[in-house]
Amino acid sequence: MKEATLVIIKPDGLQKSLTGNVLTRLSETKLVIIGAKVCGVSRKLAEEHYFHMKEKPFFEEIVKYLMGDYHTPRVMAIVYHGDEAIKKIRKVCGATNPEEAEPGTIRGSFGRITTKGVYENVIHASGAPDEAEREIKLWFEPQEIVFDNLYPTKEVTLSQVKKKAWA
Ligand code: PPS
Repeated sequence: MKEATLVIIKPDGLQKSLTGNVLTRLSETKLVIIGAKVCGVSRKLAEEHYFHMKEKPFFEEIVKYLMGDYHTPRVMAIVYHGDEAIKKIRKVCGATNPEEAEPGTIRGSFGRITTKGVYENVIHASGAPDEAEREIKLWFEPQEIVFDNLYPTKEVTLSQVKKKAWA
């Protein structure tokens, strides 16, 4: 089944110059990239991304980690599309716990557990189609996705929208 999935190369991956290594491993899946960007992560975005972990004792730490408080304040967000995209990407990533991840996987190769017990596992990957849809809509605007009708859209007219433009 064709599906889309969200990948985030987290701030430790960018700071340690692992982006190329990670993208090479991901490319082994032969999936198609339909969206990609480097962006900063606000507290609001990080908290919404991990909203299902809100009750966990390490919630604040994973929010700070994703915002880049411990590394660099940026991530690379990528949307992959294709047959069984979620399963294929998760296989290349390895287990969430870097110590349980197979050595050849991204997390097994590059991840670590901090002294506070938080996983610095270099990469996030959606776990299920509904999760992927929620996450892709959270991280990307429809016009940033180069794929027709990935999810339904609607036209909205915005007035008084302030945005930066090149001077
Ligand atoms: S998963 O892999 O997405 O299914 O994992 P999930 O249980 O949904 O989300 C857990 C996220 O919290 C991060 N994290 C930890 N989980 C468990 N135990 C510890 N100690 C821990 N530290 C951090 C974990 O990396 C998951 O985030 P992502 O971004 O998915 O890696």
